[in-house]
Amino acid sequence: MKYTDILSKMTIEEKAAFLSGKGEWQTREFERLGIPSIFCSDGPHGIRKQAGAGDHLGLNASLPATCFPPAATIANSWDQELGQTLGETLGEEAMALGVNVLLGPGLNIKRSPLCGRNFEYFSEDPYLAGKMAASYVRGIQSKGVYACPKHFAVNSQELRRMAMDSVVDERTLREIYLTGFEIAVKEGGAKTIMSAYNEVNGTYANENKHLLKEILRDEWGFDGIVITDWGASNDHALGVAAGSNLEMPNPGLDSARELIAAVESGKISMADVDARCDELLDAVMTLYVNAQNRKEEFDKNTHHAIARKAAAESAVLLKNEDSILPLKKGARVAIIGDFAFVPRYQGAGSSLVNPTRVETVADMISSYDLQVVGMSRGYSRNGQEDAETRKEALDLAQKADVVLFFFGLNEDSESEGMDRTHMRIPQNQISLLQELGAANANLVGIISAGSAIEMPWHHHFKALLHCYLNGQAGAGAVLDIITGAVNPSGKLSETIPRRLEDTSVYRYYPSRERTSEYREGPFVGYRYYDTAGVPVLYPFGFGLSYTSFEYSDISVNESGVTFTITNAGDREGAEVAQMYVTLSGSRIFRPSKELKGFAKVFLKPGESKKVTIAFDDKTFRYFNVKTDRWEIEEGKYTVKVGPCSTEIKLSAEVSKSGTTDTYPYSKEELPSYYSGKIENVPDAEFEKLLGRAIPDGKWSGNLSSNDAICQMYYAKSGLARFAYKCLTSRKKKADDSGKPDLNILFIYNMPFRAMAKMTGGAVSMEMVDGIVQIVNGHFFGGLGKVIGGYFRNGKKNRIYENKIQGRG
Ligand code: BGC
Repeated sequence: MKYTDILSKMTIEEKAAFLSGKGEWQTREFERLGIPSIFCSDGPHGIRKQAGAGDHLGLNASLPATCFPPAATIANSWDQELGQTLGETLGEEAMALGVNVLLGPGLNIKRSPLCGRNFEYFSEDPYLAGKMAASYVRGIQSKGVYACPKHFAVNSQELRRMAMDSVVDERTLREIYLTGFEIAVKEGGAKTIMSAYNEVNGTYANENKHLLKEILRDEWGFDGIVITDWGASNDHALGVAAGSNLEMPNPGLDSARELIAAVESGKISMADVDARCDELLDAVMTLYVNAQNRKEEFDKNTHHAIARKAAAESAVLLKNEDSILPLKKGARVAIIGDFAFVPRYQGAGSSLVNPTRVETVADMISSYDLQVVGMSRGYSRNGQEDAETRKEALDLAQKADVVLFFFGLNEDSESEGMDRTHMRIPQNQISLLQELGAANANLVGIISAGSAIEMPWHHHFKALLHCYLNGQAGAGAVLDIITGAVNPSGKLSETIPRRLEDTSVYRYYPSRERTSEYREGPFVGYRYYDTAGVPVLYPFGFGLSYTSFEYSDISVNESGVTFTITNAGDREGAEVAQMYVTLSGSRIFRPSKELKGFAKVFLKPGESKKVTIAFDDKTFRYFNVKTDRWEIEEGKYTVKVGPCSTEIKLSAEVSKSGTTDTYPYSKEELPSYYSGKIENVPDAEFEKLLGRAIPDGKWSGNLSSNDAICQMYYAKSGLARFAYKCLTSRKKKADDSGKPDLNILFIYNMPFRAMAKMTGGAVSMEMVDGIVQIVNGHFFGGLGKVIGGYFRNGKKNRIYENKIQGRG
């Protein structure tokens, strides 16, 4: 241990208190010991430093900071250098705003397009997500601020996210849900990590020794601190024993008392407490020193320009018939769509940034060489039909050479705390685009949406540019692409399926009760569509350019694949070359191909470049559940290279010798997995894959402190059912108004115990137990506990506070 000197002076009360937060964002300081406090802030695509009262849902305004495009957008750039630059810029702003730990990037796997937080996550593919996350982490940490990759792990659903058990087999866990974090830790060098709300295979992520100790610390060599998600701690003592350092945000001293009691009863050892304190001390002391002499300002203009470049590099051109884009100079255009006036540039929830400024297409269009015949909002944002505006838009469409239609998902579709129930855009936008298409054949669509949407209407457009959510400087980026100042080079980091019903998890997501069964195994995103032969609208890795690229001369050796890319067009541009690996005739089941490398290459017209993509430790490995380690299956692997997952231009074979002949699966027992047709995996087969019985996910009996508030419809107490009804009706009212209430959503999905974990000591776990008793129909017993607990808690808090203030 590094800080034995300080540790030897700390009392057990100080140690226990040190391991949980003070207020919404800070750690506790101890003047006597020279231990300062550090400050954490969201979020991954901009700094959300709250100056006034703290809340963690983005409700209270934060200090102005640059709002960069979120992870879902930047992943489409496939550009790790850009990721690093963004990280550096974020680190600089964090430092200027007095933030020591930046709570991001988020890199959960996009298991379903419905997850409300997909806009905050990079990809459906762990390799791409991990590489991009690692680049952010390197950038952020190079400025003396710690990055905090989140949410570790298997947290791909918002519904009841705090009261959910993700049931997943070990191989899928390792290959799909942990690989991205592994890259962020090993290659990015992340110094903190945020444990997720959910349980993983029956144990809370924050108490999960397998995740936090065996894998994160022992296998990956993580030497930083684990911070709980806000309110994610269940049993703090078990968390500490498993390797978790800091319980956030502000459980008060109840949880510190819990820790002391656990040491006294022998439930956990003092050595665990000391080890966690030592790790936390290292982080706090280092971050404190890093922040000395910090600059309190950042260059808003330069950062805005970086945000614009990032948005331009990340937009994906999905379609461009007759090369309608880029527009000809002086083209007569109609600008239609509310998003051209009020852009949709970031998602909602804890990542909400208060931008330094926001540009709009309507304001910026005049600085481009285009003749604007008129602008109209076209549709109303709340989904209501508006005949007058629609007519205005259609009239304009008839007068223009080209119609630029700005549309997509409304704010209410993408937010932390909720999942979408469908993948459609609002019907009023669909009706309008159909009419616009009939009025003017030169219809160009500019989409804003942080996640995949159904596009049954795509044939109405000659060109489609998917901008995802492109940050505060997105408008200029879009106009640069449309007019040809920038050649698009983004490629989809997730598949756009034809219909929600085509997704592999259609029947499994979101889970209804206590457990979320990952029955699809590793067949997520393109791994499924590709293997099961399900046609998609736009495949993973797809994106067009204004120029064209040719691939030639592949060769492969032990260390990697080399090939040549030529820019065969007349504009400079960038190509994202992707390397997929396949093993046909494999003895284990596998997706038909998997991304194992990529390179973004910039080329002048006519230029050729030799590109090498190196193999790494992940290229040929699979996780063998029988030997419990990463193995290589012996065989002749095909290395495939191309511009997209479904368009392979070159391939070559490489032989690998294997590390074992103990194979874990039998084809007869796992037919769905061997065929990739995993839409309806029977219980017995999922059980085989899991290697144990499927846990019972049904609710029955009494509610516990770990059940979510929204489960009160099961409550025995009429009062609790009434409270549930009131909450539900408030939630519905907010949802119907088009502006979901994040507070209500949070309360709805949170477990009872979170009342004690997030109220700064006002509520103790004893009081929570009382409340749960009331909910379960034992009104008087429960009330007694709440009242008695209230006084006992107050008294104990005072005694403890005095002790750590040196007064007792
Ligand atoms: C979110 C985290 C976030 C934290 C603090 C939680 O609800 O899940 O991503 O960092 O709040 O705002």
